[in-house]
Amino acid sequence: MKHVIIDTDPGVDDALALMLAFSSPELKVEALTTVAGNVSLELANRNALKLLEFLGVDGVPVAPGASRPILREPLDATEFHGKTGLGGAVLPEPTMHLDHRSAVQLIVEKAEELGDRLTLLPIGPLTNIASAILANPRVTEMVAGLVIMGGAFNLTPYGIGNTNAVAEFNIWCDPEAARIVFSSGMPIIAVGLDVTTHPENRLSQEMFQEIDVLGTRRARLVADLCRNLVRRYNGSNLHDPLAVATAVDPSLVETKRYKVNVETVGDLTRGMTVVERRRRKWRKEEANMDICVKVDSGRFLKLFMDRVVHGR
Ligand code: BDR
Ligand code: CA
Repeated sequence: MKHVIIDTDPGVDDALALMLAFSSPELKVEALTTVAGNVSLELANRNALKLLEFLGVDGVPVAPGASRPILREPLDATEFHGKTGLGGAVLPEPTMHLDHRSAVQLIVEKAEELGDRLTLLPIGPLTNIASAILANPRVTEMVAGLVIMGGAFNLTPYGIGNTNAVAEFNIWCDPEAARIVFSSGMPIIAVGLDVTTHPENRLSQEMFQEIDVLGTRRARLVADLCRNLVRRYNGSNLHDPLAVATAVDPSLVETKRYKVNVETVGDLTRGMTVVERRRRKWRKEEANMDICVKVDSGRFLKLFMDRVVHGR
């Protein structure tokens, strides 16, 4: 079993990712840490608690993290995720409370307690992870590594930007944090737009219809979360669920190992994940990331239906 901390900014696809994580016996979710990204920190906290209550999860701390990127102004993505961040889903106000520790404190504590049995699973901007590294650089040697949702690597025809022409939202939001994380030496598996926006890995209109008529409590939540996005974009991307699925079963994806840096200064290219492809310019040991380039979409979508929708 893999112990994970999910760092999240829920977010429609974050919500689906949490549903997947808590239905996956391969993972032990030690904590959720929240970060401003898709929504403000306040909404992220509330949504995380609401989702845990919906799922009947007890005893998993939710620790509040950064309310803004390290250097940048916070800019949310409520245009996509809806005013509350949860699309058209309406969940009761939470009765559970946030943990008394901050996200950084909790990440450092769990890293000390679990060492290389712990994997960090950030599915939002990397602000909290970078802050934990700055607070205690030994974190980078303690944990097993990270599986991140982030990046547009231009390694498949779909690896282009979704926030500017070349950058993916999570990296764009806090490019300085991403740079700190990418240069930390921690093993990283990156699930980026190259695979999450590939048509075969998306939630299609047909799948949505199938879910929408099921009428179960979980299916209704999934349908309400996704309905608007499915209408607007002819289906819905499953960015964050694919990152969780990769942590659950790495054999679902094929990866390529590269040296990657983050553009932080370009006014057209902020947040671009720059892949060094000039083999003569870097040594193998300098590669810092395994980038997903292919997904077994049949198995991924079956996992999504079984666990997210049916909860089995
Ligand atoms: C990422 O940004 C957010 O909108 C999603 O939740 C996902 O983590 C995709 O670019
Ligand atoms: Ca997210």
